[in-house]
This record gives sequence, C-alpha cells and structure tokens, in this order.
Amino acid sequence: MNLAVSLGSARLPNPVLTASGCAAAGRELEPFSPVASLGAVVTKSVTLRPRAGRPTPRMAETPSGMLNSIGLQNPGVDSFLAHDLPWLADHGARAVVSIAGGSVADYAELARRLRDAPALVAVEVNISCPNVESRGEVFACDPLAASRVVAAVRAETPAGVPVLAKLSPDVTDIVAVARACVDAGADGLTLINTLLGLVIDPVTMRPQLGGGTGGLSGPAIRPVAVRCVWQVHAALPEVPILGAGGIRTGLDALQFLLAGASAVSVGTAVFGDPSAPVRVLAELQAALAERGFGSVAAAVGYGHRAAGHEPVGPRAPEPEPARPPVPVVAGSKPAWRLGDEEW
Ligand SMILES: Cc1cc2nc3c(=O)[nH]c(=O)nc-3n(C[C@H](O)[C@H](O)[C@H](O)COP(=O)(O)O)c2cc1C
Repeated sequence: MNLAVSLGSARLPNPVLTASGCAAAGRELEPFSPVASLGAVVTKSVTLRPRAGRPTPRMAETPSGMLNSIGLQNPGVDSFLAHDLPWLADHGARAVVSIAGGSVADYAELARRLRDAPALVAVEVNISCPNVESRGEVFACDPLAASRVVAAVRAETPAGVPVLAKLSPDVTDIVAVARACVDAGADGLTLINTLLGLVIDPVTMRPQLGGGTGGLSGPAIRPVAVRCVWQVHAALPEVPILGAGGIRTGLDALQFLLAGASAVSVGTAVFGDPSAPVRVLAELQAALAERGFGSVAAAVGYGHRAAGHEPVGPRAPEPEPARPPVPVVAGSKPAWRLGDEEW
C-alpha cells in the first residue's frame, strides 16, 4: 500500500498527523510511539511572545467531546525555535508549525522567524484568533481578513514550504473563506478548528470554563468537519486538505479521505489514547486495503463519484454477517450493549 501523501509541495510518508494543541511539540507522544512514524507533528500554535493562557478551569467534558479554553498558552517563538523544533528534528520528525497572532504583522513576523527552521515541512496559519486591530473580529470569520493574513505569511515563507490556512467552521459559507485564502496564496487548507461552545455549571450557575466560552472538539464535531471537507473539496478539488475533527478510528479517517482530505490529523483522541495517531494509521491502512485501494491518494475524494459509476479497483468490503437472533426468555429483556448504554 502506498501511504505517501502530498500537502502542496510537502511530501509526507503517511497521511496521519497530530492536530495542533493536542500534543504540544511532540515530546509527550514519544514514549508511546515515535514521532518520526507520524506523517508529521502539527505543533501547538506559537505566538511572538510567551502566553500564559486563559484562566482555569480550561477544559469541560461534553457528550462526545470536550470544550477547551486554553487561550494559546505557549512559550513564544524564541523558546520554540531554541528547544522544540530542534527536538523534533533530532527525532527525525516532520513539523507542521502552527502560528497565531493578533494582527497581520504578527503573522508575517512569525513566518519570517520560521525561515530555515529545522524539521519544518509546512506552516499552518491558525486564523481562529481575534484581530486586535478590528474590534476583536476573528480572522477566519471574514474572507478579507483571512486572505490578508495568508498573503502576508505566503510572502514571508520560502517557496518550497507550503502554507496551510486553518479554517473555522463557525461561518455561514466556509467555501467563501477557503476560496479567499487560496486566492491569497494558501497552498492547502486545514479543516476544521473547534466550534465555539459554552457549558454552564448547574451548581455555580455560571460558565464552567474560566474563560467563559471554549472550543468544542471530539466526535461531536466529526459530521460538521466531514461536511466542511466535502463542501470545500467539491468547490476547490485541486486544493489539498488536511482534515481534522473527532477522528478516533481508521474508519473515521477514511470518511475524511472519501470527502476529499489528502491527510488527517488526530487531536482530542490523543488525550485518552496517546498512541491514537499510529493506531488510526494502521486501521486506515487496513480499511483502504479491504476496499481495494492501492494507495491513499486513490481514496481522496472518492465519495464524490456519481452513483452507479464504480470504477474497477476499489470496492466496498463484504457486509458484516447478520447477528444471530437473541433468544428472548420470559421475564428477561435482551441487552445489546452500545458503549455503556443499553438499548
Ligand atoms: C486542548 C486543545 C487545544 C487546541 N489548541 C489549538 C491550537 O493551539 N491551534 C489550533 O489551530 N488548533 C487548536 N486546537 C484545535 C485542534 O487542532 C483541532 O482542530 C480540533 O480540536 C478538532 O480536532 P479533534 O476533534 O480531533 O480534536 C486545539 C484543540 C484542543 C482540544
């Protein structure tokens, strides 16, 4: 099976990456599985200056996901360049460096600072940040503001290093934002960042997170993420997409490829299972082989083919055999267990 994928000019050995903010700069994952075995490590978003983040508590559990308000806690670009990237390079990993800022100038300066950085294979532009020069409006929610950031980063990034714009699903028309970013020079898109959410504590009767609102992630957002990938791939089929949002298994990852993603990143799942990215890769490989795909690339966008047009090669796996009927004993009730719930 040919697992290699391209994200613009970046060639990766396989399509499974970490998602920004969920594995810092990779060190925490190394005891569980070597970072070099991943397609790449997408680092926590780095800012020009160190940031302490938002007040605690910063995480809240939700059904099928979690809400976080970390607030871009990070050591700042100087420390990142001195310690984190060299560590990734020493461990043979590829780094997609995520950058975040409050103004177009911040992003441009960060991109300049990353030139010649070791291990760097792509720059991911986290535009889900408030624009401090425009009443705190989130860059990713405005096609013009998003395109200005992307153009500035593209201008400061070496030609051989792709720039990926990471989009927010909290918009009416994600295709319009995607198109603006691509027109401004984005070589690819990361879809999606978290959805804005709020949890109220029934005891204090106030928002549970110290920062008030937070970003919803995990399986709850997967259908939203797959829909975003689907819509953007349909409109811009040549643009590489890095998919993210609730991926926990190889079949989850397969959905993203079929919708049009060229690669995927695993975020929230890592908190419960630090080896999730390598497990997802093994499961994805098996799922592709089972369906007759000889490469990852052959599956990208395969879900968009017209009904009735089944090319030779890839095929659906055999359906699972029907379950034997469960004998019903008088006075008892059959229990099929789905997770922890009976139904
Ligand atoms: C705790 C946490 C921190 C995150 N930090 C960042 C970040 O710094 N930059 C960023 O672009 N996305 C960040 N994200 C969003 C993830 O990269 C990802 O886009 C999102 O969580 C959806 O994927 P998932 O459901 O697999 O987690 C963060 C997510 C979580 C859960």
